[in-house]
Amino acid sequence: MIPEEKVREVADKLSIVEVVSEYLPLRRAGGNFLGLCPFHAEKTPSFNVNPAREIFHCFGCGAGGNAFSFVMKIEGVSFPEAVKLLAKKSGIEIEERQLTTAEKKSQDEHVQFRRINDLTTAYYRSVLLNGKEGEPAQQYLADRGVHASISDAYRLGFAPDRRDGLAKHLRNNGVDMESALKLGIIRKSDSGWYDLFRNRLIFPIRDLRGQVIAFAGRVLDASLPKYINSPESPLYHKSSVLFGIDMALPSIRTGNAVIIVEGYFDHLALYRAGVQNVVATCGTALTGTHAGMIKRHAERVYMLFDSDNAGKKATIRSMELFLEQRLPAYVISLPAGDDPDSFLSAHPTEAFNALRDKARPAFEYFVRSLLLETPPDSVDNKVRVIDDIMPRFRKIADSVERDLYEKEICRLLGITVHAFRKRMGGCKLLQQETSPAASRPIQAVDSIQDTLLALFLNYPDARAEIIRFGLETVFTDDYLELAGFLSAAPVDSDGSIKFDQQADSIEKPEQKMLFSRILVSDAYIAGIEWRAVLGQCIRSNEKKQVSSIKDIAARLAVADPGSDEYSLLLQQADSLRRRKSKL
Ligand code: GTP
Ligand code: MN
Repeated sequence: MIPEEKVREVADKLSIVEVVSEYLPLRRAGGNFLGLCPFHAEKTPSFNVNPAREIFHCFGCGAGGNAFSFVMKIEGVSFPEAVKLLAKKSGIEIEERQLTTAEKKSQDEHVQFRRINDLTTAYYRSVLLNGKEGEPAQQYLADRGVHASISDAYRLGFAPDRRDGLAKHLRNNGVDMESALKLGIIRKSDSGWYDLFRNRLIFPIRDLRGQVIAFAGRVLDASLPKYINSPESPLYHKSSVLFGIDMALPSIRTGNAVIIVEGYFDHLALYRAGVQNVVATCGTALTGTHAGMIKRHAERVYMLFDSDNAGKKATIRSMELFLEQRLPAYVISLPAGDDPDSFLSAHPTEAFNALRDKARPAFEYFVRSLLLETPPDSVDNKVRVIDDIMPRFRKIADSVERDLYEKEICRLLGITVHAFRKRMGGCKLLQQETSPAASRPIQAVDSIQDTLLALFLNYPDARAEIIRFGLETVFTDDYLELAGFLSAAPVDSDGSIKFDQQADSIEKPEQKMLFSRILVSDAYIAGIEWRAVLGQCIRSNEKKQVSSIKDIAARLAVADPGSDEYSLLLQQADSLRRRKSKL
C-alpha cells in the first residue's frame, strides 16, 4: 500500500496534459485540450482534458477521471501500479507502508510462485539442451526448422519421459510442494509427487512483463492430446492471457496493429519470419477480456485463423467481440489448407505481408461467408441471411461504415434498404439480448441539473445555498447522489473542492462520468452572477415538476385504484407536492 501523502505528492507534481500527451496528441481548445479518445474508436475528437482541474472526460464513451485513472485504464494496471508508474516519471521515491500479515503472506506466496516457474523453465530448458534425454526434442525442433535463437527467445524446453523429474528438481531446490501444486505443474498421489508434463516439448507462457505464469506442452508425435496446458492458477487465467504478448509489444507499439493467431506454432512461425506483432490465445476461444487487452495496445487487429470450419466460426465470434470493443478488425486469408507455418515455410515474408495488406474488414468477410453458406436465391434464404446479419450489424459503431455495409448487404441480397430497415425494426429485442455494455447509452443529460451541478462545484457560496435549500429539492438521480457525496468532500481554504482527488473516490461509474463531464464542460459558468442563475434554474426545475405532477394526475385518472401502479403514482405525486411546497 502506498501512503496517501505520497499519492498526493505525485499528483501535485504532474500535469495531466503531460501524462496524456505521452499517449496521444492533444491540441488546445478553449480551456481544455482535445484529442482522439484512446478508449474507443473515433474520427472526430471528443476526448477532453482540463488542465485546471486535472480531469479528463470523453464525450464519446464516457471515460473520465484524473491522471491516475487515465494511466490505469490505458496501461491496464491497478491504482498502486499507476501511482508507482507516475512517481517514477516525476522522480518521486515510494516506500510502501508495512504490509499486514495477510498481505505479507500472499506476497510471499507470489514470490514463491515466481521462483517455482523460473526453476521449472530452467529445468525443462536444461533437459532440452543438455544431455541424452533432450535429443528427441532437439531433433523435432530441427525438423521443424526451429533454430537455437528462436528456441532461446521462447525459452523452449522439454519435459522428460519420467514420472517425477520436475517434482524431484523442485524438491531438491527446497520448494514448498503445496505451492507448486497450486500452479498445477505437479500433482500428488498416494505414492508421492509426480509431474503434469511428460515427454512433451514445453512452451512457457509469459505475461506482459515476460514473467512465466504457465506452461503448454506439445507431444513430439501424432498422439493425442496434442497439447496440454497447465491449469488455471493464482497466476494464470487463460481467458485473459495472450501468448507472446511480451515479445510482441515493441512491434505493436510501432505499428499500432496486432495479428491474432490460434496456435503456439503459428506464433513461432510468424515471429521467425520477422512478423513480431503477433499474439495467440492459449488453446481457448478469444474472450471479451482478450479483445479489451488488444484494444488497449493497438488501433486495429488482424485475425489469422485456420481456414477450416472451426477457424471460420472463431473468426466470426471474435469479430463480434471486436465490434463490441469498437476496434477495427480485419481477416487475413491464407490459401486453403495452409497455416502460417506451412505458408511461411514455402513463401517469403513479403508474400505474407502482401496477404496482410489485402486483409478484408471482418464484417465483409462475415457477410461473404454467410452468403456462400446460404445463397440468397429464395425469399426464405434471404430472410435467414438478414436475421443472421442483424445482431452483428447493429454492433458496428461507426455510422458511416454502417451505411456503407447496409448498401452493400442490400445490393448482395437484391433487396431495398427500406425492406432491410423494416426487418431490422422488427428485431429490436434481439439487440438488447446480444449487445449489453457496448451500446449502453450515455446517461440522460438534464441541462438544468447540469447547470445546477456546475454552480455547486464552482461556487462555494452557491454550494452552501443549495445545501441549505435541501439537495433533494434541487437534484434527482445520479445528480443527487453525486452532490450528496461531494457535500461531504474536503475543501481548500478558499472553499473549493479538490477535483482531481475526488475523482479517485467516486465509485459509481455513472457518477464518475457525470463528474468528469461537468468538469470539462462548465467554462460557461465562470464569472457569472451565480445567484441569478441559481434562481432561474430552480424556477425551471419547479416548472418541470409541476408538469410532471400534471402527468401523474392524468395517469392516476386511468389507473386501477387497487393496483401497485396506482399506489406508486400516489407516492410520487405526494413527494413532488412536498418538494414543491419547499421551493
Ligand atoms: P502444430 O500443429 O504443431 O503446428 O501446432 P499448432 O500450435 O499450430 O496447433 P493447432 O493448429 O493444432 O492448434 C492450435 C492451438 O489450439 C494450439 O496451439 C493449442 O493452443 C490448441 N490446441 C490444439 N490441440 C489441443 C489439445 O489437444 N489440447 C489443448 N488443450 N489445446 C489444443
Ligand atoms: Mn496450427
